[in-house]
Amino acid sequence: MRTYLVTGGAGFIGSNYIHYMFRKYGNGIRIINLDALTYAGNLQNLKDVEGRDNYTFVKADICDKEAVSDIFEHNDIDRVVHFAAESHVDRSIRSPEIFIQTNVMGTAVLMNCAKKAWELADGRYQEDKKFLYVSTDEVYGSLDEDGGYFYETTPYAPHSPYSASKAAGDLLVKSYIDTYHFPANITNCSNNYGPYQFPEKLIPLIINNALHGRNLPVYGDGKNVRDWLYVDDHAKAIDMVQEQGRLGQTYNIGGHNEKQNIEIIHIILETLQDMLPKDDARRNLVSKDLITYVEDRKGHDRRYAIAPDKIKAEIGWEPETMFSEGIRKTIAWYFEHEDWMADVTSGDYQKYYEEMYKGK
Ligand code: NAD
Ligand code: TYD
Repeated sequence: MRTYLVTGGAGFIGSNYIHYMFRKYGNGIRIINLDALTYAGNLQNLKDVEGRDNYTFVKADICDKEAVSDIFEHNDIDRVVHFAAESHVDRSIRSPEIFIQTNVMGTAVLMNCAKKAWELADGRYQEDKKFLYVSTDEVYGSLDEDGGYFYETTPYAPHSPYSASKAAGDLLVKSYIDTYHFPANITNCSNNYGPYQFPEKLIPLIINNALHGRNLPVYGDGKNVRDWLYVDDHAKAIDMVQEQGRLGQTYNIGGHNEKQNIEIIHIILETLQDMLPKDDARRNLVSKDLITYVEDRKGHDRRYAIAPDKIKAEIGWEPETMFSEGIRKTIAWYFEHEDWMADVTSGDYQKYYEEMYKGK
């Protein structure tokens, strides 16, 4: 039975990945979820797996060498899937240091512990040990509106402290692959959406604000383009890369689903109107009049678009969920989990929201 160490499993993509893996492998794997439970980590996301015998949660910081070493000493870890990160661009513009600490230092600590546990006296590694670093397409910078795609060979040109810290993490992993033959892969994925996404990110923020009749903040002219992927498709890709990918390689993961932010907002409003029951009072709140153009994000990347040719050719992965289907599933999930949204938007989040959008 393979044992996985998943970092950041209490966050958005990590928790969806853990659900996906238990759906796929059932009791055939064991998962240890290491998460510091920052504002973005939420154990409610994992309620339905917490009672499993083959699941363990460890609250620890990936920068804490002793805590991470301890996990490797007491468990025969076969796979590391490294999600843990500070992940929000706007927060990185306000407070960059924590991004460098977690995304760069934390990645180094984690790799050093895995290397120490897996490396043999002759510099080779125990058989079938693998590390996967979950990264982002934002490391490649920004594309022109009228063309081009990110390939694995596209030079790195990050613009935000978030994407720069992720790029530094990528380069560190690449350096371990080149220097120590460390058995790792890197995946660079486009924007995800789906259940359990924290409502500081565009899609859940718009769903939540629209349902409460609050302003829908659009940065700049609203024409920035992102390439949206349903989160389950990402979870599947990560598993396929780890099991079928060539060690040492990078794979881009994307949805072939480019949309301007303003288009996304219109789709959400129309879908909400369509899905809300006829007698639901929130129908009167959901309106295009809520759209509010606000000051642009500093250094705002114009367009992201992934060319997923390599992962398709080598591994046979392709996105499966059309945006029209994924957004309905996502909205249905938020309808069914009003308590989750109410919990995560209370307290600290409210303070963040007031400060972030003050005067906008
Ligand atoms: P998230 O912010 O929802 O979750 C991050 C998780 O990491 C949280 O559970 C948090 O508690 C945990 N964490 C943060 N700092 C930690 C630390 N020092 N030690 C241990 N745990 C810590 O993020 P997400 O959207 O789920 O993203 C997961 C990963 O995927 C990140 O590495 C991100 O860069 C990458 N990624 C995200 C997207 C996206 O659209 N969200 C797209 C591509 C890649
Ligand atoms: P976001 O979800 O923060 O993801 P990322 O910055 O990592 O791509 O933002 C997606 C896009 O939506 C990005 O172009 C910024 C824009 N945006 C808004 O227009 N308004 C908002 O309130 C937020 C959070 C984002």
